[in-house]
Amino acid sequence: MSHLRVQSFGISLDGFGAGARQDLENPLGVRGPEIMEWFFPTRVFQKMYGDKEGETGADNAMAERGFEGVGAWILGRNMFGPVRGPWPDEEWKGWWGDEPPYHVPVFVLTHHARPPLRMKGGTIFHFVTEGIHSALEQAKAAANGADVRLGGGVVTIRQFLQAKLVDSMHLAVRPILLGEGEELWHGLDMRALGYEVTELVPGERAMHLFISRRA
Ligand SMILES: NC(=O)c1ccc[n+]([C@@H]2O[C@H](COP(=O)([O-])OP(=O)(O)OC[C@H]3O[C@@H](n4cnc5c(N)ncnc54)[C@H](OP(=O)(O)O)[C@@H]3O)[C@@H](O)[C@H]2O)c1
Repeated sequence: MSHLRVQSFGISLDGFGAGARQDLENPLGVRGPEIMEWFFPTRVFQKMYGDKEGETGADNAMAERGFEGVGAWILGRNMFGPVRGPWPDEEWKGWWGDEPPYHVPVFVLTHHARPPLRMKGGTIFHFVTEGIHSALEQAKAAANGADVRLGGGVVTIRQFLQAKLVDSMHLAVRPILLGEGEELWHGLDMRALGYEVTELVPGERAMHLFISRRA
């Protein structure tokens, strides 16, 4: 059965998944990269964008897990890029260059329609304006029995949690206090929604927590 999984989602100890004031210079918001400092040194990240071998410890193993068995992704429009409001043109093609790291269909939630965007290496961005249920239905169909990874950002994950659609969630909790930004937990009663912590794995730069929905 195909599951909806959040993987490798970084949060600060005070619950922020992105810093404040996202823009072209600050894709993760101001001080947002501190949330992902566990990921940057890993072999997974270095193979994608870096010029180093990359580390192969527990953080890397957690990052690897996030790509296993994934047949499609769902993202929010802010994770896809800094453009807000109606698309002025079709110039913006995501943060990731000609060959994004997805290699499968990616469904981007937005209120602003746009034709699909085919990239090198198998990634196709589909822009979904009909909401989260439609995005999930389309992603599951595209995944063809494999899992769907819910990439983020915060606004997007919160909606899927509230609708009890997330089957499992891996959070990389960084021991930092961000103070401001996009807050994951605000107003969400995870216990009442049926979630529980099922696994804890200490990493080199983050504590990895796994949360699942009770059957
Ligand atoms: N910590 C991590 O591991 C991690 C992972 C991924 C991303 N991030 C960061 O998170 C930040 C983005 O998160 P975010 O919370 O600001 O935004 P987001 O969830 O990426 O995107 C929110 C936007 O998506 C569109 N959208 C969401 N739900 C929709 C729906 N049901 N129907 C139609 N459109 C919908 C809306 O855009 P429009 O109305 O403008 O179309 C909305 O403003 C970025 O800084 C990114 O780098 C962090």
